[in-house]
Amino acid sequence: MDVLIRAMAQTDLAEAERLSDAAFTPFAEPGMSTSRTPVQQDQWRARAGHLLSTDPGGCWVAERDGEMLGFAASYRRDVTWFLATYAVRPDLQGAGLGRALLDAALTHSRGCLRGMLSASRDPKAFRRYHHAGFTMHPQMFLHGHVDRTTLPVVEHVRDGSESDFELLDSLDRRVRDAAHGPDHAVLLAQNRLVVVDRPSGSGYAYLGDGGKPAVICASSRSVAATLLWEAVASAEDELTVPHVTASNAWAIDVGLAAGLSVATAGYLALRGMKPPAPYLHHGALL
Ligand SMILES: CC(C)(COP(=O)(O)OP(=O)(O)OC[C@H]1O[C@@H](n2cnc3c(N)ncnc32)[C@H](O)[C@@H]1OP(=O)(O)O)[C@@H](O)C(=O)NCCC(=O)NCCS
Repeated sequence: MDVLIRAMAQTDLAEAERLSDAAFTPFAEPGMSTSRTPVQQDQWRARAGHLLSTDPGGCWVAERDGEMLGFAASYRRDVTWFLATYAVRPDLQGAGLGRALLDAALTHSRGCLRGMLSASRDPKAFRRYHHAGFTMHPQMFLHGHVDRTTLPVVEHVRDGSESDFELLDSLDRRVRDAAHGPDHAVLLAQNRLVVVDRPSGSGYAYLGDGGKPAVICASSRSVAATLLWEAVASAEDELTVPHVTASNAWAIDVGLAAGLSVATAGYLALRGMKPPAPYLHHGALL
């Protein structure tokens, strides 16, 4: 194939979003709609546009005759390399394009001690990441109708704001070795931020639509569990809690107590680090 691998541009974002929706739909997480809503499409483009502006050297496109065939968007925070999103057009998968794109994105990881990404359950993705030296940790999802009779009184949780970002970055460094830094502004624009900040322990959670946790990060399992109960309390009826690794049994305890069921889907892929805990990661802004 006569394919050009080139740097991504802001003008690629709309096409990249469409391509990624088509590529990921067969591998949708349990409890999620198969295609993005218009609001989710906007959020996807805002996240990818943000990463393109902070890390232009991490974002790549495969193109033939001006037509996009695939892309990969990666970024560095402190000394960790993160892969946010990566897809090849469904009819062209399995022919080596993904390898060329991942190799281009990995040039941005030079000098990074650690790497982190959330992989779909696509076996082709598993092969690529395994070959690139990542250890694959299975992810669980909690999903179902919330049993509100089980809700405890959730105490010491307050709404957060930009003024909490320093606290959030120090928690990030303690729990996942790298601060989210500029990504907090994007997470705050797309989610509700809740914070626990007490002498006995601190933590934060970004909660999306219907209370779905986008990130939970805390200094102790009990603070993390309190923040997850806040997510359960803000759910209207059904709740999905994604991206739970075996190192985060506190989340399983809360989810089962709230009446949710467990399923597995995808992997947390790590290089040079153990699964963060107590921590629930974001799919793209990890
Ligand atoms: C993951 C993805 C980006 C990889 O791109 P790609 O062009 O398919 O990747 P490549 O062809 O370079 O590599 C695929 C590997 O899987 C193998 N493969 C092909 N078809 C396969 C199948 N049905 N089952 C298992 N492995 C398969 C290929 O032989 C190749 O392995 P090899 O290099 O050891 O020979 C692409 O498949 C995709 O978009 N998948 C859906 C979205 C997704 O999961 N994205 C990853 C985000 S976490």
